[in-house]
Amino acid sequence: MTLLLSATFVLLFAGQALAQDTDDILQHVDPLIGSSNGGNVFPGASLAYGMAKAVADTNSNSNQGGFTLDGAPVTGFSMMHDSGTGGSPSLGNFALFPYTSCPGGDINRCAFPKKTRANFGGFDESSVSARPGTFGITLNTGIRADMTVTQHTALFRFTFPENSTMGEAAQPLILQDLTDLSNSRQDNGTVSVNEKTGRITGSARFLPSFAQGNYVLYFCTDFSGAEILDNGIFADSRASTSVKNMTISRSINGYPLPGGAFVRFKSGAKPILARTATSFTSVEQACRHAESEIPDFDFDRISRAATEQWQAKMGGIRISTKGVDKSLITNFYSGIYRTHINPQNYTGENPLWSSDEPYFDSFYWYVLLDIPSGGSNADVVLADAYIKGLDGGINDGYAAVVKDAEVEPFDWCCQGRGGLDSWHSLGYIPVQDFDWKGFGTLTRSISRTLEYAYNDFCIAEMAKASGRTTDQEKYALSSGNWRNLYKEDQTSFWWNGTDTGFTGFFEPRYLNGTWGYQNPLNCSNHDDFSVCSLQNNGPETFESSIWEYGFYVPHDQATLISLYGGPDRFVDRLNYLHDQNITYIGNEPSFLTVFQYHYAGRPALSAKRAHYYIPEFFGTTPDGLPGNDDSGAMGSFVAFTMMGLFPNPGQNVYLITSPFFESVNITNPLTGKIARIRNVNFDPSYKNIYIQNATLDGVKYSKNWIDHSFFTEGKELVLTLGDRESDWGTKVADLPPSLGEYKGYGNSSSSAGYGSWNDTAGSSAKRIRSWLRGDLESM
Ligand SMILES: *[C@@H]1O[C@H](CO)[C@@H](O)[C@H](O)[C@H]1NC(C)=O
Ligand SMILES: *[C@@H]1O[C@H](CO)[C@@H](O)[C@H](O)[C@H]1NC(C)=O
Ligand SMILES: *[C@@H]1O[C@H](CO)[C@@H](O)[C@H](O)[C@H]1NC(C)=O
Ligand SMILES: *[C@@H]1O[C@H](CO)[C@@H](O)[C@H](O)[C@H]1NC(C)=O
Ligand SMILES: *[C@@H]1O[C@H](CO)[C@@H](O)[C@H](O)[C@H]1NC(C)=O
Ligand SMILES: *[C@@H]1O[C@H](CO)[C@@H](O)[C@H](O)[C@H]1NC(C)=O
Ligand SMILES: *[C@@H]1O[C@H](CO)[C@@H](O)[C@H](O)[C@H]1NC(C)=O
Ligand SMILES: *[C@@H]1O[C@H](CO)[C@@H](O)[C@H](O)[C@H]1NC(C)=O
Ligand SMILES: *[C@@H]1O[C@H](CO)[C@@H](O)[C@H](O)[C@H]1NC(C)=O
Ligand SMILES: *[C@@H]1O[C@H](CO)[C@@H](O)[C@H](O)[C@H]1NC(C)=O
Ligand SMILES: *[C@@H]1O[C@H](CO)[C@@H](O)[C@H](O)[C@H]1NC(C)=O
Ligand SMILES: *[C@@H]1O[C@H](CO)[C@@H](O)[C@H](O)[C@H]1NC(C)=O
Repeated sequence: MTLLLSATFVLLFAGQALAQDTDDILQHVDPLIGSSNGGNVFPGASLAYGMAKAVADTNSNSNQGGFTLDGAPVTGFSMMHDSGTGGSPSLGNFALFPYTSCPGGDINRCAFPKKTRANFGGFDESSVSARPGTFGITLNTGIRADMTVTQHTALFRFTFPENSTMGEAAQPLILQDLTDLSNSRQDNGTVSVNEKTGRITGSARFLPSFAQGNYVLYFCTDFSGAEILDNGIFADSRASTSVKNMTISRSINGYPLPGGAFVRFKSGAKPILARTATSFTSVEQACRHAESEIPDFDFDRISRAATEQWQAKMGGIRISTKGVDKSLITNFYSGIYRTHINPQNYTGENPLWSSDEPYFDSFYWYVLLDIPSGGSNADVVLADAYIKGLDGGINDGYAAVVKDAEVEPFDWCCQGRGGLDSWHSLGYIPVQDFDWKGFGTLTRSISRTLEYAYNDFCIAEMAKASGRTTDQEKYALSSGNWRNLYKEDQTSFWWNGTDTGFTGFFEPRYLNGTWGYQNPLNCSNHDDFSVCSLQNNGPETFESSIWEYGFYVPHDQATLISLYGGPDRFVDRLNYLHDQNITYIGNEPSFLTVFQYHYAGRPALSAKRAHYYIPEFFGTTPDGLPGNDDSGAMGSFVAFTMMGLFPNPGQNVYLITSPFFESVNITNPLTGKIARIRNVNFDPSYKNIYIQNATLDGVKYSKNWIDHSFFTEGKELVLTLGDRESDWGTKVADLPPSLGEYKGYGNSSSSAGYGSWNDTAGSSAKRIRSWLRGDLESM
């Protein structure tokens, strides 16, 4: 479920630029949030979803976003990046590096390899400037590097001190190498420099961070601003002006041999501009991008255009800032900003086909949707888009999700699902599954079962919306498979033997139906020992505990609540999860748990939790993020939470809490209509965070959720706030849709008592049948 939230955000706000008057919203964006302490964000220059992403790369162990503010020196300036990823860094290809001069005028006394360049990459943090569309830094060598971008092209402006730190007059050298952030270059890189023009071109093959396979990237670099003195290529630590091109192997010893080209200039009196573009298809295409997007090397014009593009993009969401602490405004807009960094717009750049169809990808993002969490979660993204009205290409999309559910790939590491025979015959993914048809990491049997169940629900939604009744029935039924791993007598004790007091948890099951065992607290925030990610000895839950996965039934909260003993007991359990810090807000599985009180008829408690986590765990300093931003996932959590509408991704549902601002206006990029939320009795000290009553377009509105038409049709939601919980949004009729039936909700309950396992299953089947008949609105 890692990226579902940011994908939902992309869906809401990706689109054409919106013209609006702008008091400068960009002043509230701080791209450096998350650039230390493992946030791993990309803080450099990019357009919204831009392919070119320019920044100074450091050699920090946490340089997944290129730049870090953790004391590590700069090793180069590169133009392709992901943002907020974990694991091994991706991209960061073809770094440039400048020297004011080489000692004694001898090029061989300049440091070429990345490792030794680090000695010349120290910098003072106060010299760093980061704004949407531009980034700048001054190295201790006195060289100032400013950068800005267009869609595929980065423009670097290097300003040199009069003399080098050795006291020699400037005779600048700029090199460009064939590495990437993680030194993944394979056979064979090529580079060549044009003697007359100094144009450097080349290509190399690299590995992505998670996906299988590899990719080839091409580049084209030109310089402007000073007369060329000479140029050539370098291999390892040695350079020559007499050789102009080279094919370089990866070499041995687990490290790609340093290699690249350089250009030296006669003077450093004026800034030297380096324009560099990349392409996944050819050097020629890279050069075409560069020449057409930045024909004039005009840094100020390009950076102004980048700023204007950001102003237009961000102008679609306006808040009233009245009385609100400045840091909360920064938090909000910076969160929204980060959701616009990934995925990258690679339209026209896919090496596998030639098309102008929109194509968004990143060699990290693409795979992250699928593997780590375990389910074929691209299904959820497609369903989310479809039910919210983006129905272009539904037949292809539908065929793809059905294929995920029915056809097991030979390698299901990175697409589709594994264990389909077991899934179909047993209705769960067994621990230690026997699967001889397709291969992948045989761990995470609990999270895979829960996610496959939800994936099937999403297919059923798409089937329903497109009139495929047989499929709808089939997938709605298998979406109930999560129940097959619910062990009703499972207890949970702390390490010291104290009973948590809760019974009934998901547990692993073998092929023969016998229960396995995983301590429900393992892989929680309190477990410092287990390894819980994609390791081949990993547990049955992915990056979180059974306790937390115990809430992951996004489509059938009603049945889950019944299993847990009704809404009060469900609230106790959710409180325990948060109060005992079993969950940790720095990773995505926690996000929905902040708002699941809505399903128990207690929306006030969701609001209370939201205000506990923000700002407590989300600061506006570089170390302000509680975990990897994961391509804007943390940013979208902040933005949706503060906006007061939290999506249940894959469903046409936004859970309503009070916004952190007196009013919020959201312009829909497709329809141009403005959706508005207004708080009456707004209190910036946040004592009045509880909704007392609400109106939608002037009509009393008691549901605690709203659908996507709020945005597309530009409705107005007015919330009257107070300082205590009210009965707004608490009745069964007010609750968000759920496949099963809500039971045990005081007097408004539709049936008395809590359903037993057998009851629940029975009524759920009935419920599915009535859903099939179309009785239930808004599913
Ligand atoms: C810069 O170097 C030149 C030549 O070595 C020297 O004449 C000049 O004084 C130096 N300037 C400074 C400010 O060090
Ligand atoms: C790499 O280049 C060398 C020299 O041109 C050539 O012999 C070799 O086949 C190339 N390897 C690959 C994988 O293309
Ligand atoms: C490489 O350089 C040689 C001469 O040094 C030249 O003959 C050749 O055409 C160049 N190749 C490329 C691909 O630029
Ligand atoms: C939202 O839109 C309304 C109506 O157009 C306008 O009166 C209000 O000032 C806007 N609020 C913000 C925060 O821009
Ligand atoms: C994606 O890139 C293409 C080609 O550069 C461009 O036409 C399109 O407007 C971009 N889309 C977005 C949403 O930025
Ligand atoms: C055992 O640990 C739990 C969780 O940390 C704590 O709440 C409880 O007080 C501890 N019990 C004892 C007897 O130390
Ligand atoms: C089921 O399989 C598990 C794992 O192989 C084994 O430990 C257990 O004894 C089996 N149960 C039965 C009833 O055969
Ligand atoms: C479960 O967590 C505890 C506490 O961190 C640890 O001692 C134990 O090894 C873990 N068990 C497994 C199977 O990982
Ligand atoms: C949970 O974490 C918070 C913040 O780190 C801390 O203040 C609180 O004492 C912790 N509670 C427990 C029960 O560990
Ligand atoms: C909404 O709540 C406020 C504050 O409790 C109250 O004054 C007002 O009458 C309520 N409006 C409706 C329509 O219930
Ligand atoms: C439930 O109904 C009983 C009897 O009609 C009434 O006394 C009680 O106040 C009601 N409780 C709630 C929470 O509405
Ligand atoms: C469910 O039904 C089965 C068979 O009808 C019965 O054996 C079992 O005890 C029932 N379980 C519960 C929790 O009622």
